[in-house]
Amino acid sequence: NHKGSKSNDSRFLDQFLPCSSSLSLPGPPGHFLIGNMMELKHDHLPIHLTNLAQRYGSIYRLKCGTTTMVVLNSSEVIREALVKKWCDFAGRPISYTGNIVSGGGCNISLGDYTEKWKAQHRLVHSSLQRCCKKSLHDVIERQALHLLKVLMGYKGCAVDLSEDFTVAASNVITTLAFGIEYDKSSSELQELHRCLNEIVALWGSAWISALDSFPLLRKLPNPVFAHLLKEVVRRDEIIGRHLNNYKSQDKKNQDVITGSLLQGLDNQNTEDKALLTDIHVHMATVDLLIGGTETTAAWLNWMVAFLLHRPEVQELVYEELCTVLEGRYPKYSDRHRLPVLCSLISEVLRLRPVAPLAVPHRAIRDSSIAGYFIPKNTVIIPNLFGAHHDPEVWPDPYSFKPERFLNEGGGSGGGSTRDLIPFGGGARLCLGESVAKMELFLFSAYLLRDFQFLLPESETSLPDLRGVASVVLKIKSYDVVARPRPVTNP
Ligand code: HEM
Repeated sequence: NHKGSKSNDSRFLDQFLPCSSSLSLPGPPGHFLIGNMMELKHDHLPIHLTNLAQRYGSIYRLKCGTTTMVVLNSSEVIREALVKKWCDFAGRPISYTGNIVSGGGCNISLGDYTEKWKAQHRLVHSSLQRCCKKSLHDVIERQALHLLKVLMGYKGCAVDLSEDFTVAASNVITTLAFGIEYDKSSSELQELHRCLNEIVALWGSAWISALDSFPLLRKLPNPVFAHLLKEVVRRDEIIGRHLNNYKSQDKKNQDVITGSLLQGLDNQNTEDKALLTDIHVHMATVDLLIGGTETTAAWLNWMVAFLLHRPEVQELVYEELCTVLEGRYPKYSDRHRLPVLCSLISEVLRLRPVAPLAVPHRAIRDSSIAGYFIPKNTVIIPNLFGAHHDPEVWPDPYSFKPERFLNEGGGSGGGSTRDLIPFGGGARLCLGESVAKMELFLFSAYLLRDFQFLLPESETSLPDLRGVASVVLKIKSYDVVARPRPVTNP
């Protein structure tokens, strides 16, 4: 039932047939030298790839030099690759510049699927779980309360909240990672954000990606690349300083992630000893900071913007919060009693999955998707944005309709939640999924309980919802008024 994919019957028959490259993948014609490289230079790549899916179907190929990329545009084909056949597609493409920003491939997000990566993933996952179990709820609550105070301080003036959202999200991660909470005016926090943002932005720029496709260019002077290298050094100085604090402690503070990771290194058995070193802890910390800051902050910005477009949804959420909570602040365990708020969260994640193209995967062996032969080393782009706008699954896919996630009685369970895949899936599922879900719930519940978000009177147009797509899909900055709700504390 998906365009470009095959019917269930024919996929059943595929099991008995050898996959063959003769079933060649559809895709746009390319230039004889650079292939489809220009397709990737579009200003909003997720929208462009989604538009191509209308012509070429839910799975198609793009050629970039000698690399073949396969773009997956429906939740069905994405789940087939990432979940059902996870062990075929758990790799990451290896690139010259990726190696430079990831300490030689020693991080989680860009590291290839090797024994070292698996050991690092196990260590980070267990440290994150241990620390989150102990303190995540309290840490987010504290940041949410602080955010309310900051908004109250604006006294109903029109402001751009993006920096406050970034500080709140960042403080959740730095508290978990180092036990440190920063003030918005902290020079170190500003330096860290500037540097991480620069690295992500520069790494995504054409000046840098050209170095991966055309090795000869590496011999020429490239000021953008020089800038990237400088920022990587700066990043490593800041993170290194925090890690050194923990390294000098005899008994590591295992209540924070970096302490727990370093203790994990000390505890490695002799078999593992050859595997993980300080650089893996260092780069995992970078992963958590990058993965955990801009994503959550961007989502909060999107949520407020969508609510400005449909203020009646904001009122419904507010009414639900007042009725169910009777004046108190919510706990994460209240989510099952707050279906309207949860439907809002799901709908914003659907329309603006903040990592719209996930992170590219690589086939680590010959395999198949939707009956098409996929050779080893093919790069796989899971177009989560496209899957979330698939008209076969989501009626009226471009409209903001949280109610699609409510059942007829107004409870949770409407819509096709199975097809909502903002965190990816399988071996490369977002490592911070549970952190993010708790953050989105508590931050939005606190904000919408205490404030009504309004378009400033001076503003004639609503925020532009198209967004600016890079690794993270962000909204263009906009001003909003946060008007305090009447006090409802019991
Ligand atoms: C990877 C989404 C928040 C850490 C990813 C991926 C997606 C994603 C789509 C790529 C999955 C793939 O390659 O198939 C999101 C969304 C978030 C969010 C929508 C919030 C709304 C976070 C947070 C953290 C985090 C809070 C850290 C605490 C990571 C890491 C990876 C990752 C380390 C790399 C996983 C790997 O390569 O195996 N995320 N993320 N993310 N995310 Fe998140």
